[in-house]
Amino acid sequence: MTEPLVIGAMVRTLGAYPSGWRHPGAHRDPARDAEVLRRIAAAGEEAGLDYLFFGDWLATGPDLEFRDPYLLARIDPVSAVLFLAGLTSRIGLIATVNTTYADPYTTARSLASLDVLSGGRAGVNLVTGAEPRAAGNHGRAAHADNETRYDRAEEFVTALRRLWDSWDADAWIADAERGVLIDADRLRAANLEGAHVRVTGPLNVARPPQGRIPVVHAGTSPRS
Ligand SMILES: Cc1cc2nc3c(=O)[nH]c(=O)nc-3n(C[C@H](O)[C@H](O)[C@H](O)COP(=O)(O)O)c2cc1C
Repeated sequence: MTEPLVIGAMVRTLGAYPSGWRHPGAHRDPARDAEVLRRIAAAGEEAGLDYLFFGDWLATGPDLEFRDPYLLARIDPVSAVLFLAGLTSRIGLIATVNTTYADPYTTARSLASLDVLSGGRAGVNLVTGAEPRAAGNHGRAAHADNETRYDRAEEFVTALRRLWDSWDADAWIADAERGVLIDADRLRAANLEGAHVRVTGPLNVARPPQGRIPVVHAGTSPRS
């Protein structure tokens, strides 16, 4: 059986090449990111790409200026994809979420919201994070080790799936005649009691078009 080829673009508004921003006419003003995102999304849809992918990095410092300048300052990926949801009609929109520091309920909710607002075009890239300075930005003494990060990541994925499954597709009945909005039997709790993640549910966004949002992952360790 042949599978269709799926092609997307990883979006970095400052560009991927470290000194690319110095090129005459290159985008180099983060205050004008909206303009560049709009242009990239239009070009991506026009070219027939399947998705746009937005990575994330939860810390910054002057050392990044000559290594990965695009990491120095950038808008958060969920905001970027929400912005593009209203400007595009066909292309998939994948935002990165860091499972070490994000809250699974908030993540399930914002991704379900993106799926509703984009008409079923949401995707999420889950990473455990390779930047230790993220710890200090989230009230942690240290960046957890690889094993601990993946223990939490596994529970995080379980939490997302249970929350996205908390509404059956036909739970929202909106029967105006009877005055009944939902079928309470088709709404269920998440009730996850993990070592790292605890969440009760149900999710306060009704089942999104895709049901479970597709999960992308790009780690490199054996656990990944
Ligand atoms: C193609 C690719 C893209 C990645 N994008 C990100 C990213 O945007 N943010 C991030 O924190 N880590 C990113 N990573 C790193 C991993 O997802 C992972 O969080 C990190 O490498 C630590 O896990 P590991 O030890 O399993 O690799 C990326 C890795 C690859 C291979």
